[in-house]
Amino acid sequence: MRASWGWVGACPVSCDRHTNVARLFWSRELLGTSVMKRPTSIIIALLIFVATPIHSAVAGDAVAGKVKAQLCAACHGADGNSANSQFPSLAGQVPGYIAAQLTLFKSGNRANPVMAGMVAPLSQTDIQDLDAYFSAQQSILGSIPEADVTAAESGGALYRGGFKALGVAPCMGCHGPAGRGIPPKYPRLTGQHPEYLERQLQAFKTETRKHRVMSPIAFLLTPQQMREVSLYVSALK
Ligand code: HEC
Ligand code: HEC
Repeated sequence: MRASWGWVGACPVSCDRHTNVARLFWSRELLGTSVMKRPTSIIIALLIFVATPIHSAVAGDAVAGKVKAQLCAACHGADGNSANSQFPSLAGQVPGYIAAQLTLFKSGNRANPVMAGMVAPLSQTDIQDLDAYFSAQQSILGSIPEADVTAAESGGALYRGGFKALGVAPCMGCHGPAGRGIPPKYPRLTGQHPEYLERQLQAFKTETRKHRVMSPIAFLLTPQQMREVSLYVSALK
């Protein structure tokens, strides 16, 4: 019996590579009577399947994203390292997070007049491509000014250990021991402008940026703790 290549779609997420392997794996030849005669084909198909990297949530095209990112360069920097603390850096952000935030700006669930205007003309493909481009850029790490070293140290205690008396979980549990985040939901904080991080904590607290996890955490922090933890994590290696 000849192989039949007609079967498409074994992969739960659409993806060319897996679909091809799936076609081979599920083709009539492999499923039919000749299965037992073709153990090598099955093993090869399985090996390819196992060796293929796990799907990333982001299917964007970083090369196309680079062209589209010219629209963002004036504020976020051409490579996503912004020079001005008014604008967050995007370089090296966990894949998936930028796309999620762009979608929130688009729906108005994250309110910002500048970004609302920026995302209005973007398609889903644009959003995925921009995410792929910026998340692949190298983040440039800042340093803590001499005068702020002590403040950053107390911020470090909160970041690593939380604040038990009030029931604040350690930030590190979700944003990672080195502040690099966990894809796709938990953002990278290291390399970010500390002023921006502090403003976001304030926004979570006042719910101008409402989030079911971060708002209750920020609600328990004092302005001083927000400043200290932001300083600490912004330069964390
Ligand atoms: C005119 C300036 C400006 C331009 C141009 C701009 N942005 Fe922004 N962007 C901002 C500001 C200001 C914020 C912070 C919003 C806030 O405080 O909530 C922001 C926030 C963001 C965030 C959230 C980052 C985070 O860590 O949560 C993302 C993602 C983003 N911008 C992506 C883009 C992309 C992609 C483009 C290009 C299509 C773009 N921006 C163009 C000003 C700009
Ligand atoms: C239980 C998990 C969890 C813990 C613990 C946690 N965070 Fe977060 N944090 C998140 C998630 C999820 C987001 C993304 C919110 C969104 O999607 O809008 C976030 C977003 C943020 C942002 C915004 C980043 C940006 O680029 O806009 C800051 C700043 C932040 N967290 C700081 C902290 C600090 C400081 C602590 C500790 C006091 C902390 N977080 C503890 C889950 C957590």
